[in-house]
Amino acid sequence: MHTVLVLGGYGFFGARICTSLATQPNLRLLVAGRNAQRARTAARSLGLAADQGTAVDARAAGLAGQLRSLGVNTVVHTAGPFQGQSYEVAQAAIAADCNYIDLADGREFVVGIRSLDAQARGRGVTVVSGASSVPALSSAVVDRYRSDYARLDTIRVGISSGARAPGVATVRGVFSYCGKPVRCWQAGSWTTAYGWLGLTRHRFPAPVGARWLGTCNVPDLELFPQRYGAAREVSFQAGFASTAGHFVVWSLAHLVKAGLLGSAAVFAAPLHRVSRWIEPLVSGNGGMFVSLAGIGASGGPLARTWYLIAGHNHGPQIPCAPAIALAVKLSRGAQLPAGALPCMGLLSVEDILAPLQALDIREVVR
Ligand SMILES: NC(=O)c1ccc[n+]([C@@H]2O[C@H](COP(=O)([O-])OP(=O)(O)OC[C@H]3O[C@@H](n4cnc5c(N)ncnc54)[C@H](OP(=O)(O)O)[C@@H]3O)[C@@H](O)[C@H]2O)c1
Repeated sequence: MHTVLVLGGYGFFGARICTSLATQPNLRLLVAGRNAQRARTAARSLGLAADQGTAVDARAAGLAGQLRSLGVNTVVHTAGPFQGQSYEVAQAAIAADCNYIDLADGREFVVGIRSLDAQARGRGVTVVSGASSVPALSSAVVDRYRSDYARLDTIRVGISSGARAPGVATVRGVFSYCGKPVRCWQAGSWTTAYGWLGLTRHRFPAPVGARWLGTCNVPDLELFPQRYGAAREVSFQAGFASTAGHFVVWSLAHLVKAGLLGSAAVFAAPLHRVSRWIEPLVSGNGGMFVSLAGIGASGGPLARTWYLIAGHNHGPQIPCAPAIALAVKLSRGAQLPAGALPCMGLLSVEDILAPLQALDIREVVR
């Protein structure tokens, strides 16, 4: 039995990861968070023993000892926001000889995970950051098509959510850079964009249709120019299914950029509540795209856009899939490289889509 502890296991994404992992053979699942009662209730609702729900605080000094005494082999860390978070969970996992997987979308956090490489190698464990939509799925898509290009000029990634609002940790994370400078590789040099500004309209395949998008500060902006040698541009934009909601965030970004508001973070919790209330009024469809353009192997221009389209509010399963795929691989005895790295090159698109097969989620390539 391979024991996987999901930290934040009754949170928005953690609960979905636990639901999937609870059905895996040879995997003992522990649902963890700071609230023992909620953890036990979540475990029971998955058909697990009540003691498979347990109180674990990511900030506790004795975390490594607790992981050891629980017999954990792999920690899945979903207790964000990761923007500004230290590496104490990953360090505790390494000290307890556990593998570590997180869902981080914080640019500095994911890029900086390499600082733990020597420690992780020393203990023979795998430490992976960003096992989620970015950079795991976005990079898997670029990996799939990269060899078709003699020269890659632009990589554009975008996500538009459906109605179902994620947890407050996600909202706090994305509001942390609202209106703040974002370093971007544009027109062949590093320039400054601003979080949730740079308004563009993107037409997704039906049933998603046209959506507004704005700039987000994600690990891909730092990792992709180097990994793929994109000559001109790497961009990442995201948007909300609710047009009104998108323009509220865009307006806050303008106020922060103009210096009239110090940070939009204070609005994260109230707007998160509002987004829950308006869910029934908003489209349950969402999508992700990865657009590549450059010179193809034959010497002519080549442009391709890969889409993942989700209906029936199934979109929130997508950010969970890379962490699920990695935890399942580890539970089946797969040998992942020892060391600490952003989640790139470990999973193919097919690996990531495998846990999503029964859902209303489909690929479209144009
Ligand atoms: N990379 C990507 O593409 C991507 C995509 C989507 C989401 N994400 C990330 O996923 C993360 C999770 O989002 P979510 O929407 O699931 O958030 P959420 O619903 O707020 O869940 C967070 C969970 O963490 C637990 N938690 C908070 N502080 C803790 C601590 N000190 N120790 C132990 N548990 C703690 C919370 O429970 P208690 O408060 O009761 O402890 C809660 O269960 C976010 O940070 C987001 O950035 C990444």
